[in-house]
Amino acid sequence: MPLQTDGIVVSNRRIRSLYFMLRIYCPPIANQIKPGQFVMLKVSDDTSPLLRRPFSVYKSYSLSHPEKRKRGYLFILYKKVGKGTQKMASLSKGQKVNLIGPLGNGFALSPLPSSANCILIGGGVGIVSLYPLAEALKGRKLFVLIGGKTRNDILGVEDFRKLNSNIFMATEDGSLGVHGTVIDLFVSQTRKFKRNEENYIYACGPVPMLRALAATIKSKKFICEVSLEARMGCGFGACWGCVVRTKHPKTPYERVCQEGPVFRMDDIIWE
Ligand SMILES: Cc1cc2nc3c(=O)[nH]c(=O)nc-3n(C[C@H](O)[C@H](O)[C@H](O)COP(=O)(O)OP(=O)(O)OC[C@H]3O[C@@H](n4cnc5c(N)ncnc54)[C@H](O)[C@@H]3O)c2cc1C
Ligand code: FES
Repeated sequence: MPLQTDGIVVSNRRIRSLYFMLRIYCPPIANQIKPGQFVMLKVSDDTSPLLRRPFSVYKSYSLSHPEKRKRGYLFILYKKVGKGTQKMASLSKGQKVNLIGPLGNGFALSPLPSSANCILIGGGVGIVSLYPLAEALKGRKLFVLIGGKTRNDILGVEDFRKLNSNIFMATEDGSLGVHGTVIDLFVSQTRKFKRNEENYIYACGPVPMLRALAATIKSKKFICEVSLEARMGCGFGACWGCVVRTKHPKTPYERVCQEGPVFRMDDIIWE
């Protein structure tokens, strides 16, 4: 059940160029959040910006985590892009922040055959919601494809490496990995995934990236879940400001914050 609660900022440091890692002590949310769910964060005490901002949780440690000193913490990896994230970047140690969460459905995490290939595709900050999923899938055949505009936008590599995943990178300016988009990278790697294997794709990133992925996956050999980034008003299903068009006649519009942010790729109308 989502709850509204305060957390305490433990640290908030720049990790690179416009990217920051915010660490919050918030046991009630850290204890129950699942891969792919998100929080709505009140980024400042004043009324500007008025609306909370949605963020995936990069790492979280429940109250039963074996390492006692980590329990109750959650980490938000964010990019400074506008007014709200600008304010976030000035949050300092000891400050109180208000959060609503966990929100959204998260990834399905249905039992997978042991031979399944799990292919995680993240563009920019889209990689954030895929990291807890990779942790949950640890021990399986994991392929992580990370894309960004430049090498500065390639996030999480060291953490994914610790999970023994196969990592591939692409940058649009060619400064790291393959020169092109993460979808170009995916296309160049598809021969790795054989027809007689079960291939599960989990993707998160800007809508044009996901649309390109949808156009690329023509055969049925991939089962694909996508986590959508939409502008959000409330974050908990009340304003209908975040809808996406679906192929379901009974529910032609679904809310990214409530029915999503994770959807089966086949269920979405992408054009
Ligand atoms: C479910 C979900 C999870 C998210 N997780 C993360 C995360 O882990 N890390 C992270 O850095 N960001 C994440 N985002 C995006 C983040 O919410 C926005 O970057 C943030 O709200 C921008 O606030 P702002 O006031 O700084 O920017 P604004 O001043 O509101 O906007 C600045 C620019 O960013 C664009 N923008 C703002 N919000 C979005 C959005 N939701 N989708 C696409 N473009 C947007 C605007 O169009 C504008 O060009 C997530 C979004 C969603 C919906
Ligand atoms: S943001 Fe209000 S319904 Fe989704």
